[in-house]
Amino acid sequence: MCGIIGYNGKQNAIPIVINGLKNLEYRGYDSAGIAYFLGNDFKIIKEKGRISSLEEILEDDEPTLCIGHTRWATHGKPSRINSHPHQVGDITIVHNGIIENYASLKEELMKEGYKFQSETDTEVAAAVIDSLYKKTKDKLLTLEKLNEVLKGSYALLILFKDEKDTIYALREGSPLIVASNETGNFVASDIPAILEYTKNYYLLEHGEIAIIKKDKVTFIKDKKEITKELLTFKFDISSAKKEGYPHYMLKEIHEQPEVIKNFIEHYLTNFNLIPDISKYEKIHIVACGSAYHAGLIGSFLIEEYGNMEVSTYVASEYRYKKNFLNEKTLVILISQSGETADTIASLRLAKEQKATTIGIVNVVGSTIAREVDEVIYINAGCEIAVATTKAYTLQVLTFSLIAYKLGLKKGIITKEKQKEIEEGYKLLPSEISKVLKVDYKKYAARIATKKNVFFIGRLIDYCICEEGSLKLKEISYIHSETYPAGELKHGTISLIEKNTPVIAVITDSKIAEKTISNIKEVKARGAYTLVVKRKDIPLHEDTFDDLIEVEGLSDLVLSIVTIIPLQMLAYEVANILGYDIDKPRNLAKSVTVE
Ligand code: F6R
Repeated sequence: MCGIIGYNGKQNAIPIVINGLKNLEYRGYDSAGIAYFLGNDFKIIKEKGRISSLEEILEDDEPTLCIGHTRWATHGKPSRINSHPHQVGDITIVHNGIIENYASLKEELMKEGYKFQSETDTEVAAAVIDSLYKKTKDKLLTLEKLNEVLKGSYALLILFKDEKDTIYALREGSPLIVASNETGNFVASDIPAILEYTKNYYLLEHGEIAIIKKDKVTFIKDKKEITKELLTFKFDISSAKKEGYPHYMLKEIHEQPEVIKNFIEHYLTNFNLIPDISKYEKIHIVACGSAYHAGLIGSFLIEEYGNMEVSTYVASEYRYKKNFLNEKTLVILISQSGETADTIASLRLAKEQKATTIGIVNVVGSTIAREVDEVIYINAGCEIAVATTKAYTLQVLTFSLIAYKLGLKKGIITKEKQKEIEEGYKLLPSEISKVLKVDYKKYAARIATKKNVFFIGRLIDYCICEEGSLKLKEISYIHSETYPAGELKHGTISLIEKNTPVIAVITDSKIAEKTISNIKEVKARGAYTLVVKRKDIPLHEDTFDDLIEVEGLSDLVLSIVTIIPLQMLAYEVANILGYDIDKPRNLAKSVTVE
């Protein structure tokens, strides 16, 4: 969603801020803007559309302090007037998050005489700060009081007109990091914005205020100066660069053998880091989007290998339903960003109701990582493409290891099987490399011309299809639906006509025959069938038009190998159609609003 960067130092701040905004483009945005001081006043330059449109209207000023923002519209359409920064009176701010009580605040502020130009909640927040500051005449007091007035989540950079050498930063919900190098100090919503300058950063916590001067950063909490731990981003800057690939998504797909190899080595040698979930009476998995799909597979693996019932829920539903939680319930939250609003709300609800919580998270120090009782980091490095690939497979792999550990503990997995499973983990990276060598362009060409695509599979194969279908629709804008293969004939089969693409997944040999019958049903009605199947499952050539085969020594890893062709297919279809693969329309990398 929105991105924030600020710089205060010795160098021209505009190129640094613009560069930072470009490195945050992946978060998704529809307008961008910057603010700095010029003479006695603020200079604000903002524009709807891409950062390149903003660059076209930049002026030749060379301020050494500047704040910038990319906006993903929530309150009010994408437009210049709604984009950040917003100035009200003597205050200019950029903001990530949502001010939930902005409408009532706006009414009160209008009574005080404030007039608003935009439809945004951010302009209201700026007016709140201006009004409080005019009353208190004390900046720290004003910022401390904000917490009482603003409801919702926010990360704010604030410029006060009467203190032209300082950026103030604070957060409640949405993340902010602060960093320094020999030229000056940075503040940003996310690590890629500053990674070119330094790998060391401070994570601003709720209730803290950062006062960022040219040569010094001061952190304040409860009116007192505090010292904070300096953290280091442990991945190489290459994880945030395209490294010769045309798109981040393609790069991240190809990184999977490597990150998976590292993950397996790390967690198999430190198996104690994989939680033992045997003591819980009830297990819920909660997540959104692809992470939810990883959770669906997780429940299959835990049920199959650990013989334990697991339910997986979409976080935006879970947070509002009756969940019957207690001390004997384990709630596993999955999130690449660790900042997804609905997943955070579900986590807090689970904690309130005394459940134990585990987070499967990529972004170190993110809200979910910090608030859960136990965190498992998937260590994917930066994932920049909006459509997740490597984080998703590592999430599935985490569940695979949890299920494996449970199966061992309960004696369900025999010594013989254990050897086979461990061998399967070791071979997984090379199995993925093998399927990455397939030429997916020819299959993609048959799909790229179509308006609708169907994915079918049963049980775990259905869950794999859900993720394949999401990948396709989010980046190629082709409508696609997933069905449990046996369900088609209850209505949806009426949509199958000549050449309708049906992509079928068969990896589970127990129900392969059933899925094959369903493929025959759609084939008989003229569908183009592309089958992705486990190599040793027999399939007559009349059943498919195209066939992609995958191998994996153990069923605990097969779903991971099988998603790779579907990721590649989605990528190649979007590539043929010429879409902006890394930044699909309307989407954001980190969904910090409900
Ligand atoms: C799809 C995708 C999204 C995310 C979802 C959850 O490719 O990336 O569906 O999986 O928004 O995000 P996180 O994992 O950050 O909670």
